[in-house]
Parts: sequence; structure tokens; C-alpha cells
Amino acid sequence: MSVTANSIRDQQRIIWDQFAAGWKKWDAELLGWHRPFGDAMIQDSRLRPDSSVLDVAAGSGEPGLTVAALVPQGDVVLADISAGMLQVAREKASARGLANVSFSVCASAELPFDDAMFDAVLCRFGFNFFPEMRAALREMVRTAKPGARISAAVWGKAAGNPWASLVLGTLAHHTELPQPPASSTGLFRCSAPGFMARLFREAGLVDVAERTVSTDLVLDSPESYWEFMEDIATTVAMGLAKADKEARSLIRSDVFQLLGRYEHQGALRLRSTATIVAGTRA
Ligand SMILES: C[S@@+](CC[C@H](N)C(=O)[O-])C[C@H]1O[C@@H](n2cnc3c(N)ncnc32)[C@H](O)[C@@H]1O
Repeated sequence: MSVTANSIRDQQRIIWDQFAAGWKKWDAELLGWHRPFGDAMIQDSRLRPDSSVLDVAAGSGEPGLTVAALVPQGDVVLADISAGMLQVAREKASARGLANVSFSVCASAELPFDDAMFDAVLCRFGFNFFPEMRAALREMVRTAKPGARISAAVWGKAAGNPWASLVLGTLAHHTELPQPPASSTGLFRCSAPGFMARLFREAGLVDVAERTVSTDLVLDSPESYWEFMEDIATTVAMGLAKADKEARSLIRSDVFQLLGRYEHQGALRLRSTATIVAGTRA
């Protein structure tokens, strides 16, 4: 792995360990918000009750914990680079009484599993953060059995994701942050139509299909939106951390004003759009 990839990976580990408390605090909201994306991936995974499943970048546990309940005679491994995020998942697995789940702290590009172990591999919102997307996918393919399904969710274009672009756009307006290179990790790096399907085909997967799934992030007020974003959205929170106090206060008031457009019947509803891609290991 290159020096740059190594340092991005280490940085991701530190950041996600810091944000684990936020993901625990907002677990109910995150579960509801992301469920349609996980459900689409699960549908594409063609699970059986005895399937052996790997969830890469499982973070605080999804979609792996939902899968565990669907494969009562099978098992699920939740893998993530952040021990802190996996600790949240571990607590949830135990609260739900799930006995067929295990945990592995590891990087997506170096999965510590034998070849051809899993009937399905899932990865929800992991590719956005991997320094080496192709190496990570290669590992998913290696550890999948022939005929296994591999499915992923990545964020779609900024225009379909005002939940994030609203604050990122305002941030860019008030700060002079250098434009990151197109290859760098980030919420919209995989959003070009066909990008993920091409990656999957190049990795040798067959029966590859890509589709778009949208839902709303629903929160009760601008204050709770701001708190939510600061607690869970690493890209946004890191950007805000680079702005000075005055800029942060201007960004906050501009964002609150823009949020007015998204108020419906006493709640904020922000569109959230992901690409769901799946393929079969030949
Ligand atoms: C947005 S969270 C997604 C968590 C979960 N899959 C979900 O959808 O709720 C992204 C996760 O990717 C993990 N991650 C980032 N870089 C990684 C890497 N190189 N290898 C493995 N996991 C990584 C982070 O630790 C974090 O838990």
C-alpha cells in the first residue's frame, strides 16, 4: 500500500474512532434514514437462511446486524477499520441477542479472511472513504465464494443529496478550502452514473447492475440538523473544524436560512440519494 493510502487509512481510523460516540447517540435516526439503502442491498444479495456474510466498513453495525437476523443458520462478520465504531455495533448485537455475529478490526484493502469464505459481501457507504477502492474490491472478490453476490451503496450526486451539499456548499462559500483532487476520499467521489458498475466489472464481477435509491433525512429542527451533522458527518465536521469562529457562525446562520426550503409539516426533510450496485463473483 502506498504511503498516501496508508496515511489516509490511519486518518480515517482516528476520525471514525472520534465519531463513534455520535453514531451511538443518533443510532435510531441513522437506522431509519439509511434503512432503504440497506434493504436494497439485502435484496440484491440473494441471502439464504444459512448464508455466511461479510459486511465491510460495517461501522456501527449496518447492514450486517439486519442481515444477521435473516440468516439464523448462517453467520455475519462485521469488519471495520475503527474499533470504536465496531464497539457500538458489538453493544447493539448483544442488545438484540444476536449470537451469529463476529467482529474484525481491519482495513478493507487487507481483509484477514481466507479465499472464498462468504456467500455474500456487503459494503454500505464504505467506498466513499477507502483510499484504494480497487484494492478493497479485490479483497471482497477474493473472500467471496464463486457465485456469491457483492453489493455496495455509495452516495449519489450532490444535487440529490441536499442533506450534505447544503452545508458543504455553504462551507465552500465562506472558506477558501483548496479543491480536493478528484481521486480523494469524499461523499461524492463515486457519484458519476456508471462509475461503480464499471469498477465492479473491472474487478471481474458479472451480472452487474446499478440503480438509484432515494429517501429523506427527517429531523425536527434546524438545531437538531446542525447537531446531527456535527456529530455524525465526518466530512462536514472536519470542514467546519477548519473554519474560524466567525466563519462558522456565518455558515450556521446561512444553513439555517436555507433549511427553510426543506420544512414540511413541522419537520425538516432532506433528500438523500445513493447508488446501489451489485454483481456476482464468477
Ligand atoms: C459512513 S460509515 C458507514 C457505516 C455503516 N456501513 C453504515 O452504513 O451505517 C463509514 C465506515 O467506513 C469505515 N472505514 C473507513 N475507511 C476504512 C477502511 N480503509 N477500511 C475499513 N473500514 C473503513 C469507517 O470506520 C466507518 O465506520
